[in-house]
Amino acid sequence: MTEEIDEIRSYLVQNGVPKKVGAVIILGSGLGSFAELIQYPVRLSYHQIPHFPATSVQGHSGELVSGEVAGEKVIAFSGRFHFYEGHTFSKTVLPVRIAKAFDADKLIISNAAGAINTGFQIGDLMVINDLIRPFHPASAESAELFRYNLYPIAEKVQEIAGEIGLSLQKGSYVYVKGPNYETKAEIRAFRVLGGDVVGMSTLPELIEASRLNVPSAAISLVTNMAAGVHKGKLDHSEVKEAAESRKEDFAKLVTELIKKL
Ligand code: HPA
Repeated sequence: MTEEIDEIRSYLVQNGVPKKVGAVIILGSGLGSFAELIQYPVRLSYHQIPHFPATSVQGHSGELVSGEVAGEKVIAFSGRFHFYEGHTFSKTVLPVRIAKAFDADKLIISNAAGAINTGFQIGDLMVINDLIRPFHPASAESAELFRYNLYPIAEKVQEIAGEIGLSLQKGSYVYVKGPNYETKAEIRAFRVLGGDVVGMSTLPELIEASRLNVPSAAISLVTNMAAGVHKGKLDHSEVKEAAESRKEDFAKLVTELIKKL
């Protein structure tokens, strides 16, 4: 793995990515437009980069964009590797290993999620302060415990959001493997467990960030109410719609986090 990361790093540096970055950002489904705000961008399609698998999910472009945001050097991943696509744990967490290889001071992870909490609304942004993995499908390769305490980071993120007048929910992320959505009974069960949102990513990345000691914050965008919370069918078009409606606030928040976290 180290060799693989070394090869990726060399390729990226040869292609204009700085040797050290201030922040790495993983952009969730529909949130890829943040990458358009990066100044002096170097854009590399995942197909070009050694050891990168192709992504196949709608709303994910599969591109690494490096450049500057608010004067900080950054690498953004537009399109991620989901465990449910059949990627190994190693591939799923590749952006986190790259964050470590580029000595990133912080990692900002974002995702699209369904709201379990009935007090939430479509379009809400939520900072994750705890994790629930009811089915454990993507456990890490090492037996290391999850060491992160996300609560203080979540407090800080909420404070920063408040400073720019953005209201931000805070809560627990329930991880499911996917790619199918949950049943209504599962969502009822997750609510009893204390879950606020549900999604199919982020947890593997946070486990790896914890192992590698990369300071991380994770933000969910509520793109839909989870199964059974409202009538109607769930599909991917909602994800795009909700993301589109909040993309400016999301970008403002991420920019502030890059500056202040
Ligand atoms: N469930 C799981 N993952 C999701 C959802 C959902 O309702 N919405 C967006 N990602």
